[in-house]
Amino acid sequence: MVDTIKIKNVNNNQSSLTIEWDDGEKSNFNFLWLRDNCPSDIHPTARERQFNLKDVSENIKPESFKVENNEKIEIKWSEGNHTSLYDISWLRRHCYTINNSKPYVSPYKLWDKSLSQSLEKITAEYEEVMETEEGLIKWLEKLHHYGICIVKNTVTSKNSGFEILKRISHTRQTFFGTPFEVINIPNPNNQAYTSKGLFNHTDLPYFESAPGYQFLHCLVNDATGGNSSIADGFKVADYLRKNDEEVFKTLIQTPVKFTNNDYTQETVRIGYSPLINLNKDNDYNDMRFSVAQMGVIDCAPDLVEKFYKSYHKFAKLLHSKEYLVEFRLEKGDLFCFNNRRVVHGRTEFNPNSGHRHLQGYYIDRDEILGRMNYLKKVEL
Ligand code: OGA
Ligand code: ZN
Repeated sequence: MVDTIKIKNVNNNQSSLTIEWDDGEKSNFNFLWLRDNCPSDIHPTARERQFNLKDVSENIKPESFKVENNEKIEIKWSEGNHTSLYDISWLRRHCYTINNSKPYVSPYKLWDKSLSQSLEKITAEYEEVMETEEGLIKWLEKLHHYGICIVKNTVTSKNSGFEILKRISHTRQTFFGTPFEVINIPNPNNQAYTSKGLFNHTDLPYFESAPGYQFLHCLVNDATGGNSSIADGFKVADYLRKNDEEVFKTLIQTPVKFTNNDYTQETVRIGYSPLINLNKDNDYNDMRFSVAQMGVIDCAPDLVEKFYKSYHKFAKLLHSKEYLVEFRLEKGDLFCFNNRRVVHGRTEFNPNSGHRHLQGYYIDRDEILGRMNYLKKVEL
C-alpha cells in the first residue's frame, strides 16, 4: 500500500526536505538524517553502515535534488562530492514524522484468571511446531503476545527439549547448566530442587539481564501435588498503573536488590533493578519478582516504607485468584513463558507418591523476537 503512494511536492526547508505525499501526509527529512541513511554506504553483505557522520560537517545540505519518475529522489550533497539516491517507498516507510504520529500499539495481550477458559490461545502442538514454519510462527507469536505457551505431546527422552528449542536458536547458559534438572535432591542449591511449593516468581532476578524465556520440559509428573500456577506480571502492573499511581510509580522508580550466593559456586551475585521497567514507549519492558531471591533492601531511608507498602501490594496481586491461571503439567508438556513478564510457581508435591522430573532451559528474548521477525519477514 505504502509502495504506491507518490510524491506531490518536495521543498528545501533549510535543515530538512519537506515532502507532501499524494495521500495528504507530510514528511520532514532532516539533512543529516538523509546523509546518514544514504543507501550506497551500506555494506552489501555485512548489511551495516560504513559511512561515519563525523566525516561531514553539521551544515551539510543538498546542493540540488530531483525526483525521478516518482520512484527515486536524487540528492547531490554540498560536501564530499557525493550523490545519494533514495527509493521513495523506503523514505515513506521510514518517515519518522508520520510514524511517530501514529498511536502506539502494544504487542502484549494482557491476561488474568479468565485465560483458564481459553487455554487453546496458549497451547501448541509439538508436531506442528517441528514440521511446519506456520506452527513455529504461531508458537513464537503466542510467546511474544501472551508471554506463555504450552507445547503438547513433545518427545520425553532426556535432553530432547533441545530438538524443539533449536527451531528457535541457541539456549542461554547459566551456572545451573543446560538443561537444569528440576527434581527433589538433598542439599539443594535452589528451592526449585526440593519438593516444596514455590511462590510465584521470575527466575534469576539478580542477573542484569534475567533470561528472557524459560522452558520447563515435563518428562514425568506422577507425584501427588506439584501443580503449576502463572500470573501475567504486566497485567498486574497495568492494574496498578490504572488504579494506584503512587504504588506504580514507586515500583518503577525504586531500585531493588537481588542476590545469590550459591554454595556450589564461587560467586557472590548482586543486582539492582526496579521491580517493573518500562520501555521507550512507556509500555512494559520487564518485571522481576522473587521473595526467595530479593536481597536485604537498602534503598534510601525515606523510600523504605513507601517501597515496602508497594511491594506488599504487588506481592498480594501476583498471588491473587483474580490473576492466577492454575494447571497441571503432563508428561510431554513443554511449559514456555516470558521470564521477564510472567511469574510462575508450583504447589508442594509428595516425593514418596511418585516421580516428578522437569528439565529446564532458557533462551534470551532477543532470540525469540529475532527469529519471529525473520520468519514474518519484518523489514528493518
Ligand atoms: C523452576 C521452577 C517450577 C516447577 O525450576 O524455576 O520454578 O513446577 N519450577 O517445578
Ligand atoms: Zn522458577
